[in-house]
Amino acid sequence: MTYRGDVAANPLSLLPTGPTDKERVEATLLDAVKIAGDPYLTEIASHLILAGGKRLRPLFTIAAAGASLPDGAVVDHDVIRGGVAVELVHIGSLYHDDVMDEAQMRRQVISVNARWGNLRAILAGDFLLAKASEIAAGLGTDVAGLLASTIAKLCEGQVGELQTLFDLDRTAEQYYPSIEGKTASLYAAACRIGGIVSKQSPEAIDNLTEFGRLYGMAFQVIDDILDVIATDEQLGKPAGNDMIEGVYSLPVIQTLAGPDGLALRELLTDGLTLDERHKAIDIVRRGPGVAQSFAVATDFIDQAKQVLLHVGDNAAATALAGAADHLLASSTRIATA
Ligand code: IPE
Ligand code: IPE
Ligand code: MG
Ligand code: MG
Repeated sequence: MTYRGDVAANPLSLLPTGPTDKERVEATLLDAVKIAGDPYLTEIASHLILAGGKRLRPLFTIAAAGASLPDGAVVDHDVIRGGVAVELVHIGSLYHDDVMDEAQMRRQVISVNARWGNLRAILAGDFLLAKASEIAAGLGTDVAGLLASTIAKLCEGQVGELQTLFDLDRTAEQYYPSIEGKTASLYAAACRIGGIVSKQSPEAIDNLTEFGRLYGMAFQVIDDILDVIATDEQLGKPAGNDMIEGVYSLPVIQTLAGPDGLALRELLTDGLTLDERHKAIDIVRRGPGVAQSFAVATDFIDQAKQVLLHVGDNAAATALAGAADHLLASSTRIATA
């Protein structure tokens, strides 16, 4: 079983979405990209929707809204639309990210860029972002403004990463703002939109936002750890792909500062051979960076759960805490496999 599939199997059952909430999300997603008279763009824009994915962000929107509702209540359709807007931003950013990373696979299927080329992948990614904005506009100016500023943060985070490509002196102080922009901001927005659409108090909305941000920070740190410790089969791409692409993430930054830092520094260049990649992965796996990064992720999750104590203790709030625990537990299973 792959990492993606493994995680996919569980968070859904941790979140107290009604039996039909996931189906409502799927139907609304597909509906958003269906264009009468243009089966070609519809096909490209639907590609990653149909490929699956964990749908964590819309489920967080639904659970955040549910935190203010009686257990078992069915969320309003606007909550579903808010979650779908966030998922469309996520998917659009994946279309663009896969162009940037030259990724061949995504969600266990061929990537959009590999199948249709970079030009169409960029245009279809733009189209998905536009459709997200259209839905957000229908949910009011607060949601529309939030989604727009979140897309800007995603770009800032990705640009921050680009500016330090192949930079062996990249620091943790440069890494954190980059992952906050490219990943945590969208989890924060997912939770915030759930709070806004369900008309919660400003304080409750801020707490939900902070939970999402902290969860998102842990999520990207874990993704970056898995990039070096999981197998090619588990990842659906070569292990160590971030090092190949010149993205030196937290475990690599911390290994470079450790005892085998010099050996790793000598290996890491643009154009790693297979042998060099294996050696680099080996050094990172044996060095202190992986454990130190796990400790960082654990700390973000602890903080996220502290914030949740102010959110409530109904089934939805409990499920958000469960999803936070599950993130660490599922990655620990990979680490010890
Ligand atoms: C992948 O996100 C991109 C990152 C932020 C690391 P997910 O792991 O949530 O991807 P899907 O939606 O399940 O495919
Ligand atoms: C997350 O970064 C990408 C976005 C936020 C769009 P990564 O580049 O690490 O994501 P994966 O590993 O390709 O899923
Ligand atoms: Mg990528
Ligand atoms: Mg990654």
